[in-house]
Amino acid sequence: MNILVIGSGGREHTFAWKLAQSAKCDQLFVAPGNAGTAQMATNVDIKPTDFEALKKLVLDNNIQMVVVGPEDPLVQGIHDFFKAEESLQKVAVIGPEKMAAELEGSKEFAKEFMKRHNIPTAAYQSFTKDTVAEGKKFLETLDAPYVLKADGLAAGKGVLIISDIEEAKNELDNMLVDAKFGDASSKVVIEEFLDGIELSCFVLTDGKNYLTLPTAKDYKRIGEGDTGLNTGGMGAISPVPFADAEFMQKIEDRVIKPTVNGLQKDNIPYQGFVFIGLIKVNNDPYVIEYNVRMGDPETEVVLPRVKNDLVEIFEACATQTLNEIDLQIDERAATTVMVVSGGYPEAYEKGKEITGTEDIKDSLVFHAGTKLSDDKVLTNGGRVIAVTSYDDHFKEAIKKSYQSIDKLHFDKMYFRKDIGFDL
Ligand code: AMP
Ligand code: GLY
Repeated sequence: MNILVIGSGGREHTFAWKLAQSAKCDQLFVAPGNAGTAQMATNVDIKPTDFEALKKLVLDNNIQMVVVGPEDPLVQGIHDFFKAEESLQKVAVIGPEKMAAELEGSKEFAKEFMKRHNIPTAAYQSFTKDTVAEGKKFLETLDAPYVLKADGLAAGKGVLIISDIEEAKNELDNMLVDAKFGDASSKVVIEEFLDGIELSCFVLTDGKNYLTLPTAKDYKRIGEGDTGLNTGGMGAISPVPFADAEFMQKIEDRVIKPTVNGLQKDNIPYQGFVFIGLIKVNNDPYVIEYNVRMGDPETEVVLPRVKNDLVEIFEACATQTLNEIDLQIDERAATTVMVVSGGYPEAYEKGKEITGTEDIKDSLVFHAGTKLSDDKVLTNGGRVIAVTSYDDHFKEAIKKSYQSIDKLHFDKMYFRKDIGFDL
């Protein structure tokens, strides 16, 4: 079948790499893609939220499956758009409908969902411009540090963790009254701070059945030792060494099953990935957040460990037969290190020539912000390339990624040299 992947990051290159390995994949398209996806697919310069242009691409090329990478098109209702179009009825869309995408699009919606289905999460209350005073009173009932979350999508910047109560109250004003994050902070969730170590688990559900994919841990801060500004993610490791069988069972029983069952009980159809951000507190899992897609760079370590044919898995997802898939996972660890443009996540330059990727033999190279210009590969974003390696032990895998990165070059390139330091 002909398949379209929507997006242009390392996550989408990994999807394309994995889908292209399937005998069931005929023509593969990526919109808009990057220099990496161009190696195994046809890049088409269409924005992920331009549904009309995507529809035309699908119809013109007899595309039967659409795999949605990023959250924006999901939150804007790409699945609903395809479902509503007569001519697109037979196209399988991997990614949930708009209603379910609210699990990521609204923190309050996600918290209410968890409360309704008894899924462990931090205690919380939400506030608007009209209830700022109550919000400040609620802050006084909590211990420091204070966690303030903009309800809506704020490009990963909408969560503030503040140790001083007066500053927390000020920020609440900034968010609610002065619209610090625009519309996204017209509602703010204030929650109890949970002290623990974070990990993520990934589930693919067809709405009825689900597959639990490998766990991963990502490194969000730009600086070594988890310091400095937040980024999209500077590296990742799978599996998470501290998520042993007993802990995984708790995640399955207390989080994954109630989540999938909760979606069914609430009549929320769901065909796609659920990325569950967790925190381990005293050996118990709590949900920090839901995302309705795969993570980036988590995908770059999770998918390389899945041995199954990904097209078969997605077909089963679309036909609600995921229960028939026997998931096979590579026992080895996979690690990825993200190479970024100097200056990221603040201002950085684009258009630098990247050399050396073809010399990397012991790792997988997944492109993120890159583009082709004649026969050159140029940087085209903050996160540029993810270098993924396997080994029996994650520390050896990390070493391989660093050895491979030694062969890469572009002006002002930067990467963290301590991925996995805390494990
Ligand atoms: P989120 O966007 O909800 O994932 O939050 C961003 C980051 O803030 C998370 O990855 C955590 O590191 C941190 N965080 C969010 N909520 C809490 C909480 N209740 N307690 C402690 N840390 C939190
Ligand atoms: N790496 C975090 C995310 O994809 O949201």
